[in-house]
Amino acid sequence: MKGIILAGGRGTRLYPLTLSVSKQLLPVHDKPMIYYPLSVLMLAGVRDILIISTAHDLDAFRSLLGDGAPLGLDLDYAVQDEPRGIADAFRIGAGHVGSDDVALILGDNIFHGPGFGEVLQSRVASLDGCVLFGYRVPDPERYGVAQADATGRIVDVEEKPTEPRSNLAVTGLYLYDNEVVDIAAGIRPSARGELEITDVNRVYVRRRAATLVDLGRGFTWLDTGTHDALTDASHYMQMMEQRQGIRVGCIEEIALNMGYIDAESCHRLGRRLAHSDYGQYVMRVASSTPALLATT
Ligand code: G1P
Repeated sequence: MKGIILAGGRGTRLYPLTLSVSKQLLPVHDKPMIYYPLSVLMLAGVRDILIISTAHDLDAFRSLLGDGAPLGLDLDYAVQDEPRGIADAFRIGAGHVGSDDVALILGDNIFHGPGFGEVLQSRVASLDGCVLFGYRVPDPERYGVAQADATGRIVDVEEKPTEPRSNLAVTGLYLYDNEVVDIAAGIRPSARGELEITDVNRVYVRRRAATLVDLGRGFTWLDTGTHDALTDASHYMQMMEQRQGIRVGCIEEIALNMGYIDAESCHRLGRRLAHSDYGQYVMRVASSTPALLATT
C-alpha cells in the first residue's frame, strides 16, 4: 500500500502564524505537526509516501524529512499549486499510487489511541473498497458525516450537512483500493469549487464498498484548525507525554518498533537532536532495545 499526506492549503484560519510557515510544520508541543500523520501511516505499515504541499512550502518539508531513508521510508514530494480539494491528491498522486492500494491522511489530523497500529494493519490487510474512520463529535455539521449499518457498511455520507443524520464525523484518514484513482479522475468540483473527498466516498457507498471503523470512546482525534485548537493539541500531547514518559508521534521510535531501522540507526537519529529532550528520548529508546545493548 502507498501513502499520501496532503499538507497543502493556506491555513488562513491560523493567520498570522501561517503567513510564512506551512500549517503542517507548526509545532504541536515537541514536534512538527506532520510527524503525527506520518506516524499513523508508519504504524499502518505504509513506507512509500508522497507528501503534497504548495510550491512555497515543499522545500521546508523536504529539508525536514528528506528522502526518508534514515527512517527506513521512501518519501517523495509533489506540488499542489492551488487548493483544489482533498480528492485532488489522487490526481496529483496517480503516478505515485500506480496500481497499488493507497492510504490518504490529511497533514493536520492528529490521531491517538491504544492499539491503533494493529487496527490499521488489519484494515489494510483486509481492504476491499474503502475504509473510513468515524469519530463522535458534538458538531458534525462541520465535517463529512457518515451513517453505517450494524455491520459497519456505510449507507450514506454527506459533506457538512445542515441536518446531520448521525454524529459520526469522517476523519481525515482514508484507505482505498486502486479504483480511487479512476473515481477521483471522474468527479467534478463542488459548489465551493473543490474536488470533494466526500464525492469520492459516495461512489464507494453506491457500490456498497465503503466500510466505517468507529474509533470509539477513549480515542483521541484532534483538530488543529484554530489558534485555540492548536494550543489544545499541544497541551494534550504535553500532558500525555509527561504523565507516561512515552512520546506520541515519535517517528524515530516508531521506525525502530516497526523494524524499519535498527537500534544503532535510531540512536544516530537521536544524537543529531541530542540538545533537546526529544533527542535524548530517542537515544534512550534506542539504547534500551536488546539489539543495541548487545552491540554496545
Ligand atoms: C475535510 C473533509 C471532511 C472531513 C474533514 C476532516 O473537511 O472535507 O469530510 O470530515 O476534512 O478533517 P475540511 O477540513 O476541508 O473542512
